[in-house]
Amino acid sequence: MRVVLLSGSLRSGSLNRALLRAFAQLAPPEVATEEYSVALPLFNAAQEAHPPAEVRRAKDALRGADAVVVASPEYNRSVPGVLKNFIDWTSRPRDDRVWEGKPVLVMTASPGALGGALAHYHLKHVLGYLNARVVPHPEIMLMHAEEQFDSGGTLRNAATSALLQDAWHALLRVSSHGDEKS
Ligand SMILES: Cc1cc2nc3c(=O)[nH]c(=O)nc-3n(C[C@H](O)[C@H](O)[C@H](O)COP(=O)(O)O)c2cc1C
Repeated sequence: MRVVLLSGSLRSGSLNRALLRAFAQLAPPEVATEEYSVALPLFNAAQEAHPPAEVRRAKDALRGADAVVVASPEYNRSVPGVLKNFIDWTSRPRDDRVWEGKPVLVMTASPGALGGALAHYHLKHVLGYLNARVVPHPEIMLMHAEEQFDSGGTLRNAATSALLQDAWHALLRVSSHGDEKS
């Protein structure tokens, strides 16, 4: 099973990328994870039919994935533009539906007290519109996230580790049955 990891933050010290790494380290043996950068040129609808090569590669990466995990910050109470731009590109043209039926786990992490909850729900809303199979539970919204990692970005919170393990089970359930019943 191949799982593509997307971070809504591009910076190397990102809490969300640290969360993705912690998640990947807990992957079951039959799963191969690969982080894929969401950095793409700005969307231009005039280029939909003939998109830049990096957009075609991104769509191929999603097409070849059995599941996708998105970890994102919240920017101004919504989804960061760089991630929305990636989703917009990969959702077009409309008859090439790489997100359709794709099992997707959404996670958000923030130094704030809400754990990026608004971005979390905005993302689920967008992905639901694209007919992705979004994992409903557990809802991983990591608040005060900087307290959960050491200076090297390693997760230091056993409760969060257990939650990530639950999230793997939920993602695998959705991937194999298409019907999450937790
Ligand atoms: C443009 C911008 C807007 C932000 N808006 C929010 C916000 O609405 N809610 C929130 O919890 N944090 C907000 N933050 C703080 C981010 O959560 C914080 O920078 C976080 O560390 C970014 O995630 P990262 O560590 O994965 O890069 C914002 C940060 C930036 C740069």
